[in-house]
Amino acid sequence: MASRRKPTASLNARNADRHALYEIAVQRPEVMVGFIEDLADHVWDRPVTTLREDFCGTANLASAWVCSGTDRWAIGVDNNAEVLDWAERHNRTPLGDRAERLRLIEADVMQARARADVVAALNFSPWIYHDRTSMLAYLRHARQCLKTGGMLILDAFGGPGSMVPCEDERPFGDFDYMWQQVSFDPTTHRIVCHIHFRFRNGTMMRKAFEYDWRMWSLPELRELLAEAGFAQSDVYFESEEGFIHEVEAAEAVDFDAWVAYVVALRDQE
Ligand SMILES: C[S@@+](CC[C@H](N)C(=O)[O-])C[C@H]1O[C@@H](n2cnc3c(N)ncnc32)[C@H](O)[C@@H]1O
Repeated sequence: MASRRKPTASLNARNADRHALYEIAVQRPEVMVGFIEDLADHVWDRPVTTLREDFCGTANLASAWVCSGTDRWAIGVDNNAEVLDWAERHNRTPLGDRAERLRLIEADVMQARARADVVAALNFSPWIYHDRTSMLAYLRHARQCLKTGGMLILDAFGGPGSMVPCEDERPFGDFDYMWQQVSFDPTTHRIVCHIHFRFRNGTMMRKAFEYDWRMWSLPELRELLAEAGFAQSDVYFESEEGFIHEVEAAEAVDFDAWVAYVVALRDQE
């Protein structure tokens, strides 16, 4: 007898949701929540309750933060109405009663004044600032949005392997994630990058995301953080053993192409 079941539509470029694929391929919000908790244990003398996720996109981290404790609140700021609508439907509304502890703000990060214990600006989002004046202005603003003793977390990548056009592919079940660094300008450090997704039926979602960034070095960022008034900054590199503080990184990190987190403390007044 013929089956009455309709064939399941396989994931392909026409039916896939680019934000859902991005969350699967790029983000690890629970790892980041754990990292913030570890930092709080080592550098704070009080609990962290409020997280502000700047450039929040789908607010995946902000949502995970709210889920990680009944006393935790989060604010997500993004200037793109389409992605915030996605965030509301997929990451805020499903929180149920906890949704009241997650506030989404549609605004330029420079216009949003909500304060928090931690400001996280991740996946290289502040690299939209191509000159030191605008990066410094953002870091000053982020500092003003921190409560006393608060902590700003930025990420960065680099190494000689990332200072040339390059590609990286990783399989995720029914799709491949493809990172393409289209260009690197050694004079300005301007980089243009694309994310594509390839599906098992051979279709491609090209340029699902496009970035026009300046690649900032770690010393540049730390000097600007100091100029913006931060009391201290530390660098933690991603490694197979977890996050490694800069003083222990030499043995454990592939410096040809690295990803790092810069953690800056406002002050302890
Ligand atoms: C690279 S995505 C990062 C998403 C998420 N934070 C993550 O970690 O994956 C950058 C996000 O920043 C937003 N964005 C770009 N410029 C912005 C600005 N000036 N103010 C607020 N959001 C901005 C974009 O709409 C986009 O959602």
